[in-house]
Amino acid sequence: MLDNQIKRGDLQPKNPYAFNGQTLVGNADEQVPTPGQKLFYIESYGCQMNFSDSEIVASILKSVNYHVTPDFQEADLILINTCSIREKAEETVRKRLKVFDQVKKARPDALVGVLGCMAERLKAQFLEEEKLVDLVVGPDAYRDLPGLIATAEDGDKGINVFLSREETYADINPVRLDSNGVTAFISIMRGCDNMCSFCVVPFTRGRERSRDPYSIVAEASDLASRGYREITLLGQNVDSYKWQNPEGSEKVNFAGLLQKVAEVDQEVRIRFSTSHPKDITDEVLETISSYSNICNYIHLPVQSGNSRVLKLMNRTYDRDWYRSKIERIYSIIPDCAISSDIIAGFCSETEEEHQDTLEMMEFANYSMSYMFIYSERPGTLAAKKYKDDIAEDIKKRRLSEIIRLQNHLSLKHNQGEIGQVREVLIEGNSKRSDDHFKGRTSQNKMVVFPKSEGLSPGDYVMVRIDEATSATLIGTITQSVESGVSI
Ligand code: 5AD
Ligand code: SF4
Repeated sequence: MLDNQIKRGDLQPKNPYAFNGQTLVGNADEQVPTPGQKLFYIESYGCQMNFSDSEIVASILKSVNYHVTPDFQEADLILINTCSIREKAEETVRKRLKVFDQVKKARPDALVGVLGCMAERLKAQFLEEEKLVDLVVGPDAYRDLPGLIATAEDGDKGINVFLSREETYADINPVRLDSNGVTAFISIMRGCDNMCSFCVVPFTRGRERSRDPYSIVAEASDLASRGYREITLLGQNVDSYKWQNPEGSEKVNFAGLLQKVAEVDQEVRIRFSTSHPKDITDEVLETISSYSNICNYIHLPVQSGNSRVLKLMNRTYDRDWYRSKIERIYSIIPDCAISSDIIAGFCSETEEEHQDTLEMMEFANYSMSYMFIYSERPGTLAAKKYKDDIAEDIKKRRLSEIIRLQNHLSLKHNQGEIGQVREVLIEGNSKRSDDHFKGRTSQNKMVVFPKSEGLSPGDYVMVRIDEATSATLIGTITQSVESGVSI
């Protein structure tokens, strides 16, 4: 029976879009503020990349004597790292700015800054529309923050929305914010060259560029030496990672990078996100399969299961091609869990085409999906070329059918785990019960299980799965991995 104290949804798999509104506070990396230090507050919206960027921002601010606070009411500088991917994300940010306006009215010396994709998309227009905002800083301009803050302190507006072809912040060691001390992100590339017709990211994050692999390995080694046990390599399209040294004598692709990072420490698990189906190669799949510490989990967004819609979306693959990629993954990594992003109600999508998406979900047997209603974004190819002509109620109904099917698939997927003994990395206490730990399997499934003496976050344990909901697995520890002792 399910323990009453463990509620559904407690421990969903980590959602790359779930940082909405998350306040980022300091952790063990951070000391208490010293006299004379100014305080900054940062709130992050959107994807994991934004979350990771906020850690870079924190590091830059630390170097000019700022200290992070979880309370915006006391902050000298309030930052909001924004997302433009859907209209709703932008509306949320606007609402939040109304709250910060009140702070500015009470304390006119406090500075409010808008970072990230919305800053980049709206540029100076933002300052027209939001009169109380002092700083507008795009994703490639964070090094300029100290100078922009000085400008704002002098009473002028600080704006830098320059997009770079080189910036990777490779030399900046992020301050780990709101960390559990076990899992961390490393940003391996920036920008996106794919031009999916619905997507604003290529406009807000600029051209794709890959970070020096040696700086990535150094960051991974540093994390490992500080006790971190899981690293997620982040990029809009990690499989197109490509780096060469200035002489051109050394080239590293994503498979090569995965190998280098996996070899840093066998005790450190490696994950990555996001993969574009067109770029994930057999070499990457074989690398995953040959390193036990690279997790058997691939986020492979399909967006639609219909070839005509995929063409309109400019995804550069069709239905059959995607299906053969899924077959390839399961044949090289039989134990792999695959998840997806799906858009309901893209321009001119018919009922039959929507059915193709549902069929694809069953074929791929996704362990989970992030599912969205199409939201037209100004300036994108789709906004220019196609009519956003699917009525809102039809979009909503299609989305609910997609969600219903995914819940069913996730439940089936999780029920298939019952009786299996899985290696779980303990991440911390279950949110709703201090008597239970939570952790994830290699396949990115969250597991809740009763604590056992001597174990703590960062330990690997073998857990037998006893029960499953569509979101959570419930289990019992059978043995600690390090000691090999049965419990
Ligand atoms: N409308 C709805 N969903 C979108 N996404 C990107 N742009 C849009 C849009 N305009 C979704 C895609 C992408 C994920 C990050 O967000 O599914 O993979
Ligand atoms: Fe957007 Fe497509 Fe790039 Fe993903 S791959 S960020 S959906 S343009």
